[in-house]
Amino acid sequence: MDDRPIGVFDSGIGGLTAVKELIRLLPHEDIIYFGDTGRVPYGTRGNETILKYARQDTDFLLSQNVKLVTAACGTASSVLPGSFAEECGVPFTGVIVPAAQAARAPTRTGVIGVIGTPATIKNRAYGKAIRNIDPSVTVIGNPCPLFVPLVENGYTEKDNPVIRMVAEEYLAPFAGTGMDTLILGCTHYPLLKGVIREILGDEVTLVDPGAETARYVANLLTGRRLLSSRHTPGTLRFYVSDSTENFSENAGRFLQRNITEAVERIELG
Ligand code: DGL
Repeated sequence: MDDRPIGVFDSGIGGLTAVKELIRLLPHEDIIYFGDTGRVPYGTRGNETILKYARQDTDFLLSQNVKLVTAACGTASSVLPGSFAEECGVPFTGVIVPAAQAARAPTRTGVIGVIGTPATIKNRAYGKAIRNIDPSVTVIGNPCPLFVPLVENGYTEKDNPVIRMVAEEYLAPFAGTGMDTLILGCTHYPLLKGVIREILGDEVTLVDPGAETARYVANLLTGRRLLSSRHTPGTLRFYVSDSTENFSENAGRFLQRNITEAVERIELG
């Protein structure tokens, strides 16, 4: 048993897709979330910068005495080295392996699509992880640089014509490829699931890396006997590196609870 909190970070609100599922699966766990809203987006930056930010985010969570670190960010996960868990000194997971495992199972055609930030697609992290599981699978990637700014600014409604136009443009290259499974490879993208589902139809399985990673974390903590010993509801604390207002509003809407009191601004480094 371990009563310390679970640490989760992302560049903004995308990692809340993992938090939402963690709350559902592990309601007695305390969670500390860091959203690097002062430096979002990560995905249009170079690998060195992303790596530096991911290490700082992790150090902040470790300073809060967390028992596990989750990089709930496809971009950070695509640059962190395989040995990162050793650097952390506590269990660590990114989102790539859990999402790759979840995508391999449902594909019938053997063609898996990946959408993500420019950095994630360039680093081919999902493709490598999927081919480690099954080398016969074809992986097709397409970057969607405008999705993160849209989501961070609260644009998620599927009927919004701006979102629809951008999504149609980004999903067009998958037409006629035989793709039957699509990894929403940036944790912000499941917030746009409504419009993506409408464009692709019901035949394509959509993989949510945040939710898959939450399941992975639940299994990991259970397997290593690191769950909390408490039976009362866990607490949630949020830290951001820019104004708390925007975050509280968007995150509160997504988690369907008032989190204003639980959000604090911090300076990193
Ligand atoms: N949620 C992050 C990801 O999964 C967003 C990256 C960004 O800030 O561009 O990639």
